[in-house]
Amino acid sequence: MMLRTHTCGELTARQIKSQVTLCGWVDARRDHGNVIFIDVRDRWGKTQLVFHPESAREIHQSAEKLRPEYVIRVHGIVRERPAGTQNKKITTGEIEIHVEQLEILNPSEVPPFEILDDTAVSEELRLKYRYLDLRRPTMINRLKMRHQITKIVRDYFDENNFLEVETPMLTRSTPEGARDFLVPSRLDPGSFYALPQSPQLFKQILMISGLDRYFQLARCLRDEDLRADRQPEHTQIDVEMSFVSEDDVMQVIEGLLVRLIQEVRGIQLKTPFRRLRYQEAMDRFGSDKPDLRFSLEMIDVTSVLKDSELKVFQGIVKQGGVIKGLTTSDRNFSRGELDELTTFVQGFGAKGLAWFKVTPDGFESPIAKFVTPEQQQELKSTFGAKSGDMIFLVADQWLTTCLALGALRSHLGKVLGLLDPSKALSLLWVVDFPLFQWNEEEKKIDAVHHPFTAPQETDLAALEKEPTRVRARAYDIILNGTELGGGSIRIHQESVQKRVFQALGISSQEAEEKFGFLLKALRLGAPPHGGIALGLDRLCALLSGTDSIREVIAFPKTQKGSCPLTEAPSKVSEKQLKELKLQIKT
Ligand code: AMO
Ligand code: AMP
Repeated sequence: MMLRTHTCGELTARQIKSQVTLCGWVDARRDHGNVIFIDVRDRWGKTQLVFHPESAREIHQSAEKLRPEYVIRVHGIVRERPAGTQNKKITTGEIEIHVEQLEILNPSEVPPFEILDDTAVSEELRLKYRYLDLRRPTMINRLKMRHQITKIVRDYFDENNFLEVETPMLTRSTPEGARDFLVPSRLDPGSFYALPQSPQLFKQILMISGLDRYFQLARCLRDEDLRADRQPEHTQIDVEMSFVSEDDVMQVIEGLLVRLIQEVRGIQLKTPFRRLRYQEAMDRFGSDKPDLRFSLEMIDVTSVLKDSELKVFQGIVKQGGVIKGLTTSDRNFSRGELDELTTFVQGFGAKGLAWFKVTPDGFESPIAKFVTPEQQQELKSTFGAKSGDMIFLVADQWLTTCLALGALRSHLGKVLGLLDPSKALSLLWVVDFPLFQWNEEEKKIDAVHHPFTAPQETDLAALEKEPTRVRARAYDIILNGTELGGGSIRIHQESVQKRVFQALGISSQEAEEKFGFLLKALRLGAPPHGGIALGLDRLCALLSGTDSIREVIAFPKTQKGSCPLTEAPSKVSEKQLKELKLQIKT
């Protein structure tokens, strides 16, 4: 026997007078005199049930027992709602069910929070009772959108001759810059699997296998500090292609994003997407993932102020530093606010923030007296500033200056409401990244992406002499100031791979131990290849307009990496530890 004839979201005027059976959860209940109205809810929507005392006394009495979240089954007749009581906003708003039979399939305890779209409930509680939280229509819609996105992704890659291949979860370390999650081996005590930070090496091996075009919706696990856009496990749209250049990979991804955004958001994007070189992105926007929904560009004024009376500026320029700034209009900053902005940029490594208010009588600032009228005039024209505008300057080494001002730029963009609403989605590529960066803490060179990224051919000679000047064949895709994805053309020659390992301070012995299988494969007919991975969680969050990727993951972890629902991570039994030959030392 069928438990129901329809869902709670599909009955309209067309079914008036039909006999129907519905199942679902008790949502809202309203008593009007003797008549009881109950909304029954499921994934598809809500339907209004009516219980009249005259027509069915017994059922009416049972209906009085119904409480929120009871699971019920009802049988009745679809009737038109009386004139004036129709609800145009929902599909089922024209009708109601006059109930003839009511069955309580399962009662419910009083839920810890109401199932409403706007809840003021703490995230901890929402995650503990995620099954209740997921009954909320907003959450259902997010899961629906995620499903829609993954379906389009699979269709798109299938149509473009890609094969989806699963790669192992129990594997060796794949360096992506985070810590590994380790799994102890019972069969080989003292040995550990690492959970994959990404399928990077497997997808390269698949190219060496001749697969040519691979994709996978891949789970990736990284033990790193968590933020709104970072989870210990996330999903990537992972792609790899053989016999390609940067442009081929970028074209495939542009095609995917154009289709996705068209189908999910109804927005038609133009291709090719804008491209910015890393150097230019840093110089103009102070970020390798600039948000281009607003301009607020940074300008270099080193030449204007290198001889200023300001000792700090002079000193910094002498040490090879730069002076850069940006200007804002239509806003008066109080001294308190300016102090806050100074503290803010100091948080990003700047030593200070100089500010000048442009007035008809010259600059206003505690340090204005150190800037000559000619320099003031030149600054004003360089920034295109007019009376009432504010000029902010930072002087430091190039990278620090760019990053600190870039952070200020993003902050001011939000505070001053500069986002252009007509630019709902701003996509761009950042290219020509450096291959390596200096790690001041550990006094060594790190890979900016990962150690398998190919250096640019023209920079190969500098690999040993000036490694930090070598540019990578890497590209990141940025959506609204968030790094949505990143990829590169890979090294397919063993000799180059060895030189890169060496530059990274990985000895040949260590390279052989950790990546011997890759080096061997590179000697056995490796085609030129490259690829990319997009963060699926970030994509879903950005397209559904939420800040946190936890809102688009059914069962996410808290900021502390725990799951309030299952209370993972948890202690394990002595027996389990013994089997693994592990001992906990505290
Ligand atoms: P990368 O490390 O840049 O590249 O990751 C690719 C994309 O995955 C998303 N992402 C995350 N999302 C949520 N939580 C996290 N902790 C997290 N870490 C990364 C981001 C990021 O842009 N193997 C390479 C790709 C390649 O070279 O093909 C890789 O993993 O959106
Ligand atoms: P000080 O001489 O350090 O007291 O700084 C005088 C003014 O210059 C203050 O407004 C500082 O915020 C600003 N200032 C100091 N160092 C820098 C810097 N590196 N970049 C920009 N402004 C600075």
